[in-house]
Amino acid sequence: MRLIIHRNYEDASSWAACYIAERINDFKRKSDRPFVLGLPTGSSPLGIYRGLIKLYQEKKLSFERVSTFNMDEYLGLSADHPQSYHRFMMENLFSHIDIDLTRVHILDGMAKDPEQECRRYEEAIAAEGGIELFLGGMGSDGHIAFNEPGSSLRSRTRIKTLTGETRIANARFFGGDPSKVPSTALTVGVGTVMDAGEVLIIVSGSGKARALRAVVEEGLNHMWTLSCLQMHPRAIIVCDEDATEELRVRTVRYFKDIEKETIRTFSGKNGGGS
Ligand code: GLP
Repeated sequence: MRLIIHRNYEDASSWAACYIAERINDFKRKSDRPFVLGLPTGSSPLGIYRGLIKLYQEKKLSFERVSTFNMDEYLGLSADHPQSYHRFMMENLFSHIDIDLTRVHILDGMAKDPEQECRRYEEAIAAEGGIELFLGGMGSDGHIAFNEPGSSLRSRTRIKTLTGETRIANARFFGGDPSKVPSTALTVGVGTVMDAGEVLIIVSGSGKARALRAVVEEGLNHMWTLSCLQMHPRAIIVCDEDATEELRVRTVRYFKDIEKETIRTFSGKNGGGS
């Protein structure tokens, strides 16, 4: 796992946007297939989405040959519901770039048979050749997508019941009322994320510091589902200084030194595994 620490959220987000752009452009030079990108919602990726839109506007990036799969969707919210992840993605990314909307995949929160919808989603990912890069955020309890504490680290796309902590955290999008946050969601599994060629997670703010410590310094544990990254051959967490508040000074120094060395070795390129 690489841990890339930036001074603040803006710097971490621009770095991640440039990293994704570089990966898409590099892939385009080598393959005729579309680049398959996994995407999250939440406030954490917003800076990255702004960065990607800017790169598109500056003509440094095109999404014409990009397919996307979103991580999750609330069960019972239609695509046009203001708080649905469909709407979130349209408003914060898709309506600002040149993506072909037929290549956009988001779980259907209104599916008549949600279990079948989850199976269909896994098949659609496989049919596209798998996810090249999965971008994600992290919940304050260390969850990835909606894989709440206790989720199987081999789980696939399925229905999950949300914890009280997650509903309280997401209440800000529902007029501050946790009871208005749907109690269930459809979500890709930890195993689905782990199958991606690469995983890039953005973490920001001291509210995530406790979870970041568990994910980086403690063992693989289903109570902090993002700790699965410890088993991924190409995993990056990009974060701001505030999110490192609970890490040991020694851990922070170690990852900063490693990154300095990586930059020297790859002469500024974003290479290197984990
Ligand atoms: C929800 C989403 C996650 C996201 C998390 C954190 O639970 N399902 O994908 O990472 O919220 O959201 P935020 O970035 O707003 O802190």
